[in-house]
Amino acid sequence: MKLQLLHEAIEQTTADTLIINLFDDVTTPSGATGAVDAALGGAISELIASGDLKGKAGEVGVLYPRGAIPAQRVLVVGLGPRAKFDVEQVRRASAAGVKRAADLGGRQVATIVHGAGVAGLDVATAAQATLEGAAAVLYQYRATALDDLGARLATHGAWAHEHTPAEGELMLSVVEVAAEKLAAVEAGLRVGTAVAQGAGLARDLVNLPPNIATPAALAEVARYLAERHGFRATIGDRAWAAEHKMGAFLAVAQGSADEPYFIALEHDGAEEAAVVLVGKGVTFDTGGISIKPSDSMWQMKSDMAGAAAVLGTMHTVGALKLARHVVGLAPCTDNKPDSAAYRPADVITASNGKTIEIISTDAEGRMILADALVFAQRYTPAAVIDLATLTGACVIALGEDVAAGIFCNDEGLQGRLTAAGQATFERLWPMPLWDDYREKIKTDVADMKNSGGRYGGVGTSAVFLREFTAYPWAHLDIAGMAYSSQAQLGGAKGATGFGVRLLIAYLRN
Ligand code: BES
Ligand code: MN
Ligand code: ZN
Repeated sequence: MKLQLLHEAIEQTTADTLIINLFDDVTTPSGATGAVDAALGGAISELIASGDLKGKAGEVGVLYPRGAIPAQRVLVVGLGPRAKFDVEQVRRASAAGVKRAADLGGRQVATIVHGAGVAGLDVATAAQATLEGAAAVLYQYRATALDDLGARLATHGAWAHEHTPAEGELMLSVVEVAAEKLAAVEAGLRVGTAVAQGAGLARDLVNLPPNIATPAALAEVARYLAERHGFRATIGDRAWAAEHKMGAFLAVAQGSADEPYFIALEHDGAEEAAVVLVGKGVTFDTGGISIKPSDSMWQMKSDMAGAAAVLGTMHTVGALKLARHVVGLAPCTDNKPDSAAYRPADVITASNGKTIEIISTDAEGRMILADALVFAQRYTPAAVIDLATLTGACVIALGEDVAAGIFCNDEGLQGRLTAAGQATFERLWPMPLWDDYREKIKTDVADMKNSGGRYGGVGTSAVFLREFTAYPWAHLDIAGMAYSSQAQLGGAKGATGFGVRLLIAYLRN
């Protein structure tokens, strides 16, 4: 999808498809919808009066101007009731309109900014959300996602004047008639394109098959981002991890012939203590010696969604030249059961010297995160936020496609993150870091064991991670949010890109 901003009246825009909107309480449309209605001789008012157009959320009415205006068709998307309106409704309305436009064969699509000025939404936020919804619904996985990464990123949403649109690529024109709003619309669109590209990258990386999205491929993406945005980069291989005494990370990696990589990217946008983002990068989780059942094992290609979210966020941070000090860490390896694999009953020493008795080699995420959380300490961080598809127990507790669990040792950090989650609709729900869970991972042979068994499995995983933190810290268990069997905003299924919107909203506040 390519993007341009036009300063004109939408009823005069030359495009094949126009997108305007309607709240469910409107009888006589005003604003852009009113202007189009007038240009069409009251056709929209008539449809409202006859009850054919209700302004319900998700509704898309189609009108054919037949020469009255330059556009071939007009889509009226419902915004639902004003009382329930928020920024997520903007994303959904925009997605519904753009989806219908694309399905009808529209290629030159012009939209107004949905919802500015309603329910306290400022113009820039509304413009950003209008674009986010459009880009999310148009997202398509392509098997070639890692070839020519720069071109691929541009397809997730880029300014038409910066990239030549590919043949047949949809052009979205955001149309604003009010001169005094233009700067805010443009600012919002700038953030929106950067977020769309970051989220698109995360989705691509998760959707790619595990034989393509290997640790080496993720390292290659990290190198590309470092080069493009001027990040300081460390890409550590097995030998590097051994020098850093990352015994827990290496224990997981030792069952695989594929080289593991520990990725560290640093964006120095401000003189301040860093916010460190840590993403679980298990490129395929077979469970190892504690092997998983085969029927749904394929889904474990998404077990690097935390790392993908961190790489996607770093791309957005770089594209926005965000005035923040942000570090992205991603320990990347697959979890396989070969002859060299770690096994239950092994005792492993992590990089902070703490020892871990292995109960299940399938509790590998907390192992690789342990060394990454210790590594985060060297930045003397203001905050560390980890994202991990860590436990099936979190999915049982909160459900699929509903919310990620947040475990946090700092009230302020938790408040800011959950607020960002609400605003981006990448919701977080608080879970407890109680010492009762610590009791469950006690063992006689080591400082802790890596599994506390079935009950409270999400809590025991979190207090395990806590053993490796000494700073304000939030752990986000995204196991239920990273990969979906549901169409995202009516678009593609599969990878969601969860975390990019959330982290960018958090970092921009
Ligand atoms: N990657 C899985 C968790 C997971 C499950 C992610 C479902 C996405 C969807 C993780 O490594 C795992 O295997 N966790 C185990 C932990 C147990 C062995 C303590 C689990 O949740 O069963
Ligand atoms: Mn596992
Ligand atoms: Zn896993």
